[in-house]
Amino acid sequence: MSVVPVPRVAVIVVAAGSGTRLGAGVPKAFVGIDEHTMLRHALTQVLAGPEAQVVVVVPAGHEGTAQTDAVEAAGTRRDLVRVVPGGDTRQRSVSAGLAAVWPDVEIVLVHDAARALTPPDVFARVVAALDHAVGAVPVLPVVDTIKRVGGGEILGMVDRSELGAAQTPQGFRRDVLVSSYRVADTEYTDDAALVAAAGHRIAAVEGSPLAFKITTSADLERARALVAPLPPVVAGLDAAPALPRVGIGTDVHAFGDGPLWLAGLEWPGERGLSGHSDGDAVAHAIVDALLSAAGLGDIGAHFGTDRPEYAGAHADAFLARTRMLLGEAGWRVGNVSVQVQAQHPRFAPRRAEAEAVLSAALGAPVSVTATTTDALGFTGRAEGVAAFAVALVVPA
Ligand code: CTP
Ligand code: MG
Repeated sequence: MSVVPVPRVAVIVVAAGSGTRLGAGVPKAFVGIDEHTMLRHALTQVLAGPEAQVVVVVPAGHEGTAQTDAVEAAGTRRDLVRVVPGGDTRQRSVSAGLAAVWPDVEIVLVHDAARALTPPDVFARVVAALDHAVGAVPVLPVVDTIKRVGGGEILGMVDRSELGAAQTPQGFRRDVLVSSYRVADTEYTDDAALVAAAGHRIAAVEGSPLAFKITTSADLERARALVAPLPPVVAGLDAAPALPRVGIGTDVHAFGDGPLWLAGLEWPGERGLSGHSDGDAVAHAIVDALLSAAGLGDIGAHFGTDRPEYAGAHADAFLARTRMLLGEAGWRVGNVSVQVQAQHPRFAPRRAEAEAVLSAALGAPVSVTATTTDALGFTGRAEGVAAFAVALVVPA
């Protein structure tokens, strides 16, 4: 028969306070940070630390609720967790927890459930320090300038380089903690003070800003912000414009009848393109790229065949309207780059002219390049024209 080894470490999680300063109407440990309570968060962090027996000390009558949190946090390791009722002071609650620690345990950590987000590495640092010390406490440097104050005036300076803010978990050799509790005849502010009063030296290890104690509603807000998932990225009119955004658009039109309009220019003598409007694939690719960059849908949504006013419309009408839509949504055009793939017309002689017309319509630089496709594909066979655009929009 195999014997499961008993951990040499126990963590007493004190959660029996009422939370007067938070004033939530329920004991503080059962207040939700997100969908999980403070206690559940604290236990998840404890169980991610060094292997340990976990004793949870809760207000009498709340053992059942605490047990549910404990089982959910521990999963398959639920045998490690035990819930006991606490006392009317923190010190009494720790004593009650101490009485439930398994006989073989050599090291006991005492931790406030109210420090619900304390990372597991703090537990590991405290346990490691107990190889060379009988007690260890995580501390954070004091960042504020500290003054001695009395009678409404500043009485003097305190050198903050000698100060540290004590956190939990505070760890001790079990025999030292038990004997210190036995001789304690007054209420101490923390376990380190109680053990030091019994004549023991306590080591300091590095604490964590995340080990802050949730005491007031401002602390609870901070904890909520820390565990909240990142807000979803919202596209479209609702999104608060912040960063520049890019978009891509393509369009294809087949050669048909009538005059050719392409890249905002009329091309006399060239075969025209078919389409609801003038078939200007270059302008349409630009519109799609811009709408996409701004998260405003696509050309069909704004200029579809159900919009008779755009039948036969030219590039300037499309681009001016697009620019307006972007402006209403808080964007302006950064620049646009568009490439035409076509066997004809030959763009080189009128490239600069096309850029000037399109840039004027958008109020932003538009670069136009053109290529043939080596006689390959539908553009190579001169069946139609394709255009590809990339646009950058920036918050207006
Ligand atoms: N605690 C406890 N038993 C008590 C008092 C406090 O187990 N009789 C625990 C709290 O649940 C908390 C930790 O000790 O996890 C630190 O105490 P504190 O932050 O002061 O919590 P509360 O006493 O609940 O809050 P308040 O002082 O605002 O009433
Ligand atoms: Mg208290």
